[in-house]
Amino acid sequence: MSMTPHEAAIEPQADLPYTAAVARDTAAYYERVARVIPEIEWPVHAPYIAAINALKRERNAVILAHNYQTPEIFHCVTDFVGDSLGLARQAMESDADIIVLCGVHFMAETAKLLNPEKTVLISDLEAGCSLAASITGADVRLLRERYPGTPVVSYVNTSAEVKAETDICCTSSNAVEVVESLGVERVIFLPDEFLAHYVAGQTDVSIVSWKGRCEVHERFTAAELRELRQGHSDIVILAHPECPPDVIEEADFVGSTSAMIGYVGDKRPARVVMITECSMSDNVAVEFPEVDFVRPCNLCPHMKRITLPKILASLQTLTHAITIDADIVAPARRSVERMLELNRRARA
Ligand code: 13P
Ligand code: SF4
Repeated sequence: MSMTPHEAAIEPQADLPYTAAVARDTAAYYERVARVIPEIEWPVHAPYIAAINALKRERNAVILAHNYQTPEIFHCVTDFVGDSLGLARQAMESDADIIVLCGVHFMAETAKLLNPEKTVLISDLEAGCSLAASITGADVRLLRERYPGTPVVSYVNTSAEVKAETDICCTSSNAVEVVESLGVERVIFLPDEFLAHYVAGQTDVSIVSWKGRCEVHERFTAAELRELRQGHSDIVILAHPECPPDVIEEADFVGSTSAMIGYVGDKRPARVVMITECSMSDNVAVEFPEVDFVRPCNLCPHMKRITLPKILASLQTLTHAITIDADIVAPARRSVERMLELNRRARA
């Protein structure tokens, strides 16, 4: 994640003016997000939304955003939104010249692995992930020495360097499938110990795990969930598999961010809580006004580094372009492609 002096100097510009033309051009977006963005904030966001959407067309760029991005990004400047698997798939299918990834660094790196010839931008290089930071390629090599012949499955929440040491990647939406696809009795599953625990409970394959954790999901507690049930007898609890095991046990449904959104869309519960990053509920509430979202708020500080002014600066200056060491591109790409290939076969 090193920065050149040129990149380091790029700062988002000062606030843009909220003109009558901007108000008119962005009115439809405001109508969409009015339930989750106070009117007083709109003059701050709207000029950036107008400028980003215009520049995106000019540059033949697409904006891909993770479900944890804030509503003014998620609903107002994106071409595709989704979970980690969805973003990887969409990155692969895009025919734009430039991909701007609104999410964290490993997501942009994955998009670059799948599109080596394209410019892939992330608007803040410091948007990291506690899981990706928990393990290095050297750690994986040591694990392989310790468990000879045991295949390595890595969560996509890892660096390209770790992916290059990996047999096959997985995301929260296909982890069990990926583990079982290898047809072996034991796998090394990296780096999330809670996701590993969840997967171990769904399969007979024995799992060797690592001690990585998501700093957002590890903070939820089962006591908090029980309190929510006491306060709202009809509440449906949806949890991400990066949560601790006792939290998972208290939940009514466990799935990736997009699986949680799918649950709300299919079942339309009267009241729901999403035990995951805070912005998800805002984004989903926009789509389902009839559902009451209870919103405990754990923010991902890395996801929140991405802002509209930074996205505009990124498109203007074409920074920060993701680069990956030439010697790890091919093996890292292979581990992501194996996962995508498995998914393609499962969907066929
Ligand atoms: P999803 O793939 O479920 O969107 O998860 C990504 C992530 O970073 C969750 O914390
Ligand atoms: Fe990483 Fe957790 Fe943030 Fe997702 S929410 S990017 S796993 S720190």
